[in-house]
Amino acid sequence: MSADWPPKARLTALAIVLGLLQSAVFGQSIGSADAAQRGQQLLLQRQESGCVLCHRIPGLPVGGDIGPSLHGLAERADVQVVRERLVDPRRFNPMTIMPAYFSLEGLTNVAWAYQGKTVLSEQALDDILAYLMKPQGPRQ
Ligand code: HEC
Repeated sequence: MSADWPPKARLTALAIVLGLLQSAVFGQSIGSADAAQRGQQLLLQRQESGCVLCHRIPGLPVGGDIGPSLHGLAERADVQVVRERLVDPRRFNPMTIMPAYFSLEGLTNVAWAYQGKTVLSEQALDDILAYLMKPQGPRQ
């Protein structure tokens, strides 16, 4: 930064540098507040994820009973195991009714528009994971 910049320009430059640093550090990483927020939105969109059709999830006003409640998940489960389950729950239970959200293996009768695509993008998967694995505090 040049010494003869007016003070206001120096402050602006400093703010930009700090902003860039902040997004580099907290940007897309798992566990960032942004990722968790995007994850919450995805969880609430029944079309995209469908999770709330089968699960009750902390902090969400709607939820189903077909699958287990996900309350307390962040405290009891390992993030890699939960990720693997979302990628393909058949690895844990071959007869599961939960969809494989990030796998193309063994799918039949896939509608033309969805062929070759996973249900969720990797980014969406990580965002959902960020929300699910965020410590939730007292049960709501
Ligand atoms: C059609 C119903 C259904 C949908 C949709 C569904 N699940 Fe599941 N889920 C289940 C069932 C049933 C289980 C119990 C284990 C099994 O049978 O595979 C389960 C298990 C789980 C578990 C393990 C729970 C534990 O106590 O360890 C997690 C985590 C999970 N689901 C997350 C999700 C997320 C996140 C989504 C959306 C991206 C989702 N599920 C969508 C039915 C569903």
